[in-house]
Amino acid sequence: MKRYVIANWKLYLSVAKSELFARQLVRWERTQKFGTDIEIIIAPSLLALQSVSVILRKARSKIKIAAQDVGFADEGAFTGAVSPRELRRMGVSHVIIGHSERREHFNEDDALLAKKVVAARTAGLKVIYCAGETKEERNESRANDVVRSQLRGVKKNVDLVAYEPRWAIGTGLPIAPAEAEHMHALIAKEVGATVPVCYGGSVTEQNAIAFAALEHTQGVLVGGASTTYKSLTTIVSKIHKVANTRGYATP
Ligand code: PGA
Repeated sequence: MKRYVIANWKLYLSVAKSELFARQLVRWERTQKFGTDIEIIIAPSLLALQSVSVILRKARSKIKIAAQDVGFADEGAFTGAVSPRELRRMGVSHVIIGHSERREHFNEDDALLAKKVVAARTAGLKVIYCAGETKEERNESRANDVVRSQLRGVKKNVDLVAYEPRWAIGTGLPIAPAEAEHMHALIAKEVGATVPVCYGGSVTEQNAIAFAALEHTQGVLVGGASTTYKSLTTIVSKIHKVANTRGYATP
């Protein structure tokens, strides 16, 4: 089964550091034997997309590049917006939409996100859609309903779903794998079995496999731990090793 590692660099790395990291990654990639069983997608910050995309293209790298956000229009009177069509032209293949940091700090709601999803798909970008509940919603046993409702307006147009419980992002406190599995099965029911589901939220070198090996999970979306060479390459190597292992125990 194909596995995914999505590296969300957020706003952690400067443009210069993103370029340096991309160069290190393509050098490392040449020493690995990756087939089509693993897909690495890196998501640098907006201003680094252009130069990182050139680095990957020149190296004929199989590593894909994602934007961390996108606008809902290709052109027009939308001050400050980012055109999905221009991202695609730049060599960006994927876009993360609905990350909880966008929902929280930029007030993005489901209606806006649904518009972004359609615009991104129309431009030929693949949509990595994030969904996840707050701690309060989980404590009130509303997590399932919240995730279902976040998916409702977009589920026909997503290429991958990342389940990211909001309270697990950047806290060092990931969800228990068995609970992630429960939610991933629910998500698979909503979006269809052909859409890969990944887990995100405090993924590390130590716990990545416990998530990637779950039955309804095809990989991980990694934030903090994806921003250093050692931890990102370790996570990818570990997940690649189990990518084709049958009978890997589901925790
Ligand atoms: P984290 O971030 O791995 O730092 O918790 C995850 C994410 O970007 O959603």
